[in-house]
Amino acid sequence: MKNLSKFLFVFGLLCMISSDVQGDRSFITVKNELNPKDKAGPRLIMAYCKSKNNMIGPRYLKFEEIMIFGFKTNVWGTTEFWCVVKEGPHYNKRYGSFTAYKAKGLFVKDDGTKWNWSAKDDGFYFHKGNMPSLKLANWTMN
Ligand SMILES: *[C@@H]1O[C@H](CO)[C@@H](O)[C@H](O)[C@H]1NC(C)=O
Ligand SMILES: *[C@@H]1O[C@H](CO)[C@@H](O)[C@H](O)[C@H]1NC(C)=O
Repeated sequence: MKNLSKFLFVFGLLCMISSDVQGDRSFITVKNELNPKDKAGPRLIMAYCKSKNNMIGPRYLKFEEIMIFGFKTNVWGTTEFWCVVKEGPHYNKRYGSFTAYKAKGLFVKDDGTKWNWSAKDDGFYFHKGNMPSLKLANWTMN
């Protein structure tokens, strides 16, 4: 009984701290940067993102259109989002998927950071803050 009330006390404290620390949100963005001058022409992409409890999209994006959504990292720091992007006009020939966000443990602070992803002709690029843009995933052919 004593241990249980101690546990509940600590648990309550953790929840209080976390709701305070996590006053803000983080954001994921996905942008269509497929070159409209490519021989395939301008193409839409279809994008959706998922976590254990949420599904955002699908959204259809034209060249330079952006999908954006905010989220809160859970107190355990286990929040993770995966995104799937399919290339139009068929949406079944080329697709890609990537881990768009993965929390790194307890008490991650959501501070308005944008985790920006771009679909380009040669793959998926990640960009955040002052970091250089990095290619982190390839397209897969069906
Ligand atoms: C991330 O994307 C948003 C929405 O397009 C943009 O306003 C912001 O400048 C981008 N951040 C970086 C670091 O590129
Ligand atoms: C993408 O594919 C190329 C060629 O197969 C490979 O060299 C590269 O490592 C891959 N990049 C990623 C981020 O998986």
